[in-house]
Amino acid sequence: MPMNHNGTSGANDPWWKRAVVYQIYPRSFQDSDGDGIGDLRGILQRVDYLATLGVDVVWLSPIYRSPQDDNGYDISDYQDIDPTFGTLEDLDELVGTLHGKGIKVVMDLVVNHTSDEHPWFIESRSSTDNPKRDWYWWRPAREGMEPGAPGAEPTNWGSFFSGPAWDFDRVTGEYYLHLFSRKQPDLNWENPEVRHAVYDMMRWWLARGIDGFRMDVINFISKDLRSDRSLPEGPVSNGPYGSVHEATINGPRVHEFLQEMNREVFQGRRDALLLVGETPGTTVEDGLLYTDPRRAELDMVFTFEHVSLDHGPGGRFDPKSMDLAELKATLGRWQAGLRDVGWNALYWNNHDQPRIVSRYGDDGDYRRQSATMLATVLHLHRGTPYVYQGEELGMTNVRFTSLDAYRDIESVRYAVEARELGHRSEDEILGALAAQSRDNGRTPMQWDDSPHAGFTTGEPWIQVNANYPMINAEAEHADAESVFHYYRRLISLRHEDPTVQSGDFTMQLVDHPQVYAFTRSLDGDQLLVLGNFFPDEQLIEHGEEWSGAELVIGNYSSPAMPANGAVALRPWEAIVLRRKL
Ligand code: NOJ
Repeated sequence: MPMNHNGTSGANDPWWKRAVVYQIYPRSFQDSDGDGIGDLRGILQRVDYLATLGVDVVWLSPIYRSPQDDNGYDISDYQDIDPTFGTLEDLDELVGTLHGKGIKVVMDLVVNHTSDEHPWFIESRSSTDNPKRDWYWWRPAREGMEPGAPGAEPTNWGSFFSGPAWDFDRVTGEYYLHLFSRKQPDLNWENPEVRHAVYDMMRWWLARGIDGFRMDVINFISKDLRSDRSLPEGPVSNGPYGSVHEATINGPRVHEFLQEMNREVFQGRRDALLLVGETPGTTVEDGLLYTDPRRAELDMVFTFEHVSLDHGPGGRFDPKSMDLAELKATLGRWQAGLRDVGWNALYWNNHDQPRIVSRYGDDGDYRRQSATMLATVLHLHRGTPYVYQGEELGMTNVRFTSLDAYRDIESVRYAVEARELGHRSEDEILGALAAQSRDNGRTPMQWDDSPHAGFTTGEPWIQVNANYPMINAEAEHADAESVFHYYRRLISLRHEDPTVQSGDFTMQLVDHPQVYAFTRSLDGDQLLVLGNFFPDEQLIEHGEEWSGAELVIGNYSSPAMPANGAVALRPWEAIVLRRKL
């Protein structure tokens, strides 16, 4: 019998199957010292807020020592805290305080790459015979070409942040690989010394008392290295560069590396931990391999299909509108694929995504309704829900009126490249960024209606969203009908309801263009979840069996109830009904 079979109550299931995780992007959460950048002592001031919300785990985006080229995803010392965020003592205090409230702490683990200012890379780049030379991906210029000349890069790969994925280093006349910015050189996981240095560091963190890792682009760590040490060219579709996907995503040794990591780092203590991998470009089949408990790799993975449905053929900065049937198809495929084995991580938002209410909802007249409808649909799926800071307030995308307001390296580099290529007007560039920039999710947390939304007494590192006088935690807390209180209810539902935790999932109304519908079933108990993704009324005929059903939760103060075999959903209405089978 498969280990996590559906339809059985989950008494022996791992704790994280009943948990809700809250992601903090420390830079934008709460500043305590007036320098305009959030910090650990700021988070300490808000622990009661997290406890009131009721989350079980806090995932901290990187707080390690870093030049901050990619806001901390470029680490120069894995075993120290960046002074911007505080000290190791501050972190210990924060972990202790959160633990005191029953909240676990998961750290971001960024080991596909380091900063170019990490001592490992400084050594590696110093000479071709340095003992750490092979810790990174160094290659000579393309055969027959002048090192450093345009097009002489070892492969045609483009980086995720525009431009080539190789940087020429004058000191030794070779190139190093960086899938992200040139200040984020990729570690060479083929080298066992690299892997063991990473494992040492991970053990050190666990010994310090943290409860798991969110592993950044962990499915990029194995590259498609050929026996002659060459790396393959990538297919070119649009733009001057080849794609890195084929040669770097879910590569040949990734499962072996993760299994080794488990043996070396997690042996004997896995049950207490949460291990979640960020795995872009991963299919359900890959997801099964990563999360099958018998394989001992990861507990769950973040997938990307459902947050790419509004990307056009040119990628995220070529936005289009999302088609609900596609959303159902992709999320339904993941639910079905991981039904018997494996587990889903459920999310709408994180620090790399625009705000969901602006994206798949309506951040104008129906902000509260659409934010809570989206939350209902997500939190009632089978899996572990993740809430990203501000999502529980219904925070929206920001409308910057000038390119200078953007801070994110991906956005800034995109704008520079788009201007150089000259295919898009300034307005088009601003429009693409308004829809898709990662900065939408990175504006400061809106705590109250005081200057800078109570985030800082100084000048914030990025502008606060102008809507903070209306959308903020204080106002949300005071309003019983708010998005915030609705999230609290969804979180306690996850804690208390076995059918929400482990019930079988079946998509309903697969082809309905406007309403998202599914059932969850466990031991004779069944839930029906309905979410209207549109601002007009939808009449859903569900047959007599749901007449007389009990209301579990709904996002209108007098929720739609079944009558005469049908239920009429108002704009962006969500309801969850229960019946006994
Ligand atoms: C994924 C992270 O979530 C993102 O913020 C970062 O830019 C890249 N990985 C590179 O570390």
